[in-house]
Amino acid sequence: MTGKWSPDSWRSKPIVQVPVYPDAAELNAVEKELRRYPPLVFAGEARALKASLARVSKGEAFLLQGGDCAESFAEFHPDNIRDTFRVLLQMAIILTFGAACPVVKVGRMAGQFAKPRSSDNETIDGVTLPSYRGDMINGPDFTEADRIPDPQRLIKAYNQSASTLNLLRAFAQGGYADLHKMHRWTLSFIAKTPQAEKYQEMADRLQETLAFMAACGLTAESTPQIRETDFFTAHEALLLGYEEAMTRIDSTTGEWYDTSAHMLWIGDRTRQLDHAHVEFMRGIGNPVAFKAGPTMDPDELIRLIDVLNPSNEAGHVTVITRMGAEQVEAKLPNLVRKVKAEGRNVVWACDPMHANTVSAGGFKTRHIDRILEEVRGFFAVHRAEGTYAGGVHFEMTGQDVTECVGGARAVTEARLGDRYHTHCDPRLNASQALELAFLVAEALKIERDLRAPVALPGR
Ligand code: PEP
Ligand code: CO
Repeated sequence: MTGKWSPDSWRSKPIVQVPVYPDAAELNAVEKELRRYPPLVFAGEARALKASLARVSKGEAFLLQGGDCAESFAEFHPDNIRDTFRVLLQMAIILTFGAACPVVKVGRMAGQFAKPRSSDNETIDGVTLPSYRGDMINGPDFTEADRIPDPQRLIKAYNQSASTLNLLRAFAQGGYADLHKMHRWTLSFIAKTPQAEKYQEMADRLQETLAFMAACGLTAESTPQIRETDFFTAHEALLLGYEEAMTRIDSTTGEWYDTSAHMLWIGDRTRQLDHAHVEFMRGIGNPVAFKAGPTMDPDELIRLIDVLNPSNEAGHVTVITRMGAEQVEAKLPNLVRKVKAEGRNVVWACDPMHANTVSAGGFKTRHIDRILEEVRGFFAVHRAEGTYAGGVHFEMTGQDVTECVGGARAVTEARLGDRYHTHCDPRLNASQALELAFLVAEALKIERDLRAPVALPGR
């Protein structure tokens, strides 16, 4: 795919997963209005994330990406934002402290509102309506009024993203993320779980370390890294009219950046080389990612990487593999080998959620054991191939939901209905997320020990 790129050059390409708006003129008017709205992120921030991801691609840091499958208008509440943020902070601390590895934190937050669907329509009791495609497009209720795509939802999604991002920035930089407060990040409903206890033990050790550091003169006042953190946002760039409207020229470099988030990704259903989503993503300066499921072929993978990143810039492309627990060890090695042989710089991340979805008792769910198994398989393949397992990508929430089965506080299939709140895919709850973080920390520690230079005898 070559030719001149512009923010709207995707419009002349084939496209899938697009909603049909009954009023095209209204959609145009809304997109025009959005073009005048302030950017949500700055190009410089997207470049800072890219620099961090370049470190990940070299094995010097680890990418932690997580958040809702789909954010929703109904669940928009400061407490929900705070709770997801603090579980991500806890996970990051477990990884940083457990594996002595810097963690790049990216939320599936502040813009994750559009969903690809397996079918355009849904039929219930003989009534057929358009499928729910995320709150930015239509509503989840099975009524005609809710399911007709409504352009005004783009404005609402923009506004919700802006206020979510504002709060996230305040949490990250305003004192909430101070390491001295890490005991307080534990959510009360998980306080008695083995994960929370393990976390508290780690927090105790970290407080001792902080006291030691303070004695050496490294305090929260002198060392910003102790009192604040970097937190970035990402979402699937699915609704291209919105992404186009948010794409602006960066005055310092003259390059185009999609200012709707720091990082954008292409879903597994929209990664066709000659289609619109790849066309749009090849022109923006932000770090980009794409999902790679079991149908991804090694040659196609190289072509996609090259279209998105012709200069092979480190940190620009993240490949998020989602093979499923059963297939990861069979499908991943060929992709990893090819990319290594061709010398392409990528971050490898594992999404252990999307290919491990099953249905149980009328609910879409995921078993923690399968999720853990895919993560283990991902690390095993990279260890065997001599490449770096650089990150994980989870659907999780700070809420006490019962959407995924298993874990230390064993959510059973029979209890899924208790607190099943997701608007799309099942998410890990806080204790399940911490459990996973401990597992990843252990795998990462082994990986880093293996990569560390061997100590000479006598040293
Ligand atoms: C998602 O991340 O919510 C998603 C739909 O993933 P995928 O494109 O991998 O199916
Ligand atoms: Co999902």
